[in-house]
Amino acid sequence: MKFFIDTANLTEIKEAYDLGVLDGVTTNPSLMAKEGISGKEKVRNHYKAICDIVDGNVSAEVIATDFDEIVSEGKELAKIDDKIVVKVPMIKEGIKAIKYFSSEGIRTNCTLVFSAGQAILAAKAGASYLSPFIGRLDDISIDGLDLISQIVHIYQNYGYETEVLAASIRHTMHLVKCAELGADVVTCPLKVITGLLNHPLTDKGLAQFLSDHAKANP
Ligand code: E4P
Repeated sequence: MKFFIDTANLTEIKEAYDLGVLDGVTTNPSLMAKEGISGKEKVRNHYKAICDIVDGNVSAEVIATDFDEIVSEGKELAKIDDKIVVKVPMIKEGIKAIKYFSSEGIRTNCTLVFSAGQAILAAKAGASYLSPFIGRLDDISIDGLDLISQIVHIYQNYGYETEVLAASIRHTMHLVKCAELGADVVTCPLKVITGLLNHPLTDKGLAQFLSDHAKANP
């Protein structure tokens, strides 16, 4: 399973990259705004800066919602770097654009996915990645992990090549469950990736080892 970090913060991206387990980055307009990135040139430069840190894919989301504008914005984004994957919302015009990008060899990430039906449409249109949002479903008392399980099953039934990129991950159990269910990728905040390190018995065991070593080597 691939690990993507879900942020536009360069320090966090670098920290995850330095850990040696990072396979890519996802961003969205809210995450870009959180970093104070606005204006075409700044946005472009920021995506380039992210691409320069990591080895894998970097999802850059279009703001347009009309087919022609999504295509033109997506093509501009794709020109920034070979690592860019054009992130397109799950709307009618978005599906048409994903089909177009797919025929042009431009990789896409279909975002804001909340149902299996939407997942089927995106796969048929040729999306490279599909982003079902687990946490936002949990927020409205619908089990987001059930959706991951359903989509993985459907994609296996038909051999769809679209990769299931579980998004809106809030905690380490989401990540571990996604691995059990067979998601291809998880995208999550840095704290979820580093949270996997934690276990009190590891801390206790290490303290004991170091203390025993110190006693034997005064
Ligand atoms: C996915 O690509 C989104 O950027 C993201 O995972 C949304 O997460 P949130 O629901 O925590 O905002």
